[in-house]
Amino acid sequence: MSNINIAIVGATGAVGRTLIKLLEKTNMPLGEVILLASSRSAGRKIDFRGEELVVEETTESSFHDIDIAFFCAGGSISDKYAQIAVDSGALVIDNSSHFRLDSNVPLVIPEVNPEAILSHKGIIANPNCSTIIMLMALKPLQKLADIKRVVYSTYQAVSGGGNQAISELEGQIRSYIEGEVKEATVLPVANGKNHYQIAFNLLPQVDVFDEGYYTKEEWKMIKETHKILGNKEIGITGTCVRVPVFWSHSEVLNVEFFDKVTRDQAIAALESFPGLKVLDVPEEQLYPMPIDYYNDDNVYVGRIREDNSIENGINLWVVGNQLRKGAATNALQIAELVVKKDLLSKSL
Ligand code: A2P
Repeated sequence: MSNINIAIVGATGAVGRTLIKLLEKTNMPLGEVILLASSRSAGRKIDFRGEELVVEETTESSFHDIDIAFFCAGGSISDKYAQIAVDSGALVIDNSSHFRLDSNVPLVIPEVNPEAILSHKGIIANPNCSTIIMLMALKPLQKLADIKRVVYSTYQAVSGGGNQAISELEGQIRSYIEGEVKEATVLPVANGKNHYQIAFNLLPQVDVFDEGYYTKEEWKMIKETHKILGNKEIGITGTCVRVPVFWSHSEVLNVEFFDKVTRDQAIAALESFPGLKVLDVPEEQLYPMPIDYYNDDNVYVGRIREDNSIENGINLWVVGNQLRKGAATNALQIAELVVKKDLLSKSL
């Protein structure tokens, strides 16, 4: 297999930096690794496998000879450059929401719907972080009984909002300790009318408001789940909340099935699913917590119990690092699968 040339657009961002670290350990045979960002970061140096790589400004000619281009710089940058990268011969793995619902673009979680990559036409979309974490738990349960309805509540870390949101929480905590007040300027959404303190607070808004008083994040979890599972009949509703946690999203899922699923059956199915770990020992107070998964690619499930208020229901608590499995890890797994199956754009 020949060496694979990689470009990372958004290499200086929260997801991009995570991806660089993960890429250091990949078994894929790597050729050149090109780090791209805005002109603001051009010239910055980032370590990669003991070498200092210089960040370059993203331009239309950045993708010459690139085999895989990871896009981690937001929807407008994917809109501007992804097709240019494809036309240059690269396979694009896009972390933004820009192409996710496009019927020509597979939306892939390798453990959940790996077969979808077979139909790619140059772009593969990485699902939303909260969607990935939820589906890692729903997929094994769906093998036990068809899912009728899901009600989700998310507890989303600030790192999901990128570098600026991480700095905002840090700054507000420091100011609070020093007896000062630091005005919010980023959360809940950077270009919103109002900004609210995240430290010691909860924000019931992730992303901008959209149809039916839901936020875009809430719609992503619904529409992307329907696409990935290939079933629009599943009723899905919920609320996304930003919490003052740095790393890892947590989710409460209430799942209703068409047939009975017991706690023991759910545990057995979840335990045997790749990338998923069960941590659920109530008598020892053992359950997943976001603080424990800073450096972890797995998704964790606990608090598994039957919902006695409906005929066939299960409650779950799911935690996953959204920069890892919710973003960079999933993107890298897609790349590794594409390479393994010889599905790079240039070999099609
Ligand atoms: P830069 O650091 O130069 O602004 P995050 O999601 O953590 O906020 O990161 C966003 C990423 O997207 C950063 O790497 C950022 O680079 C990159 N980015 C922002 N604007 C552009 C642009 N116009 N062209 C390429 N990359 C961009």
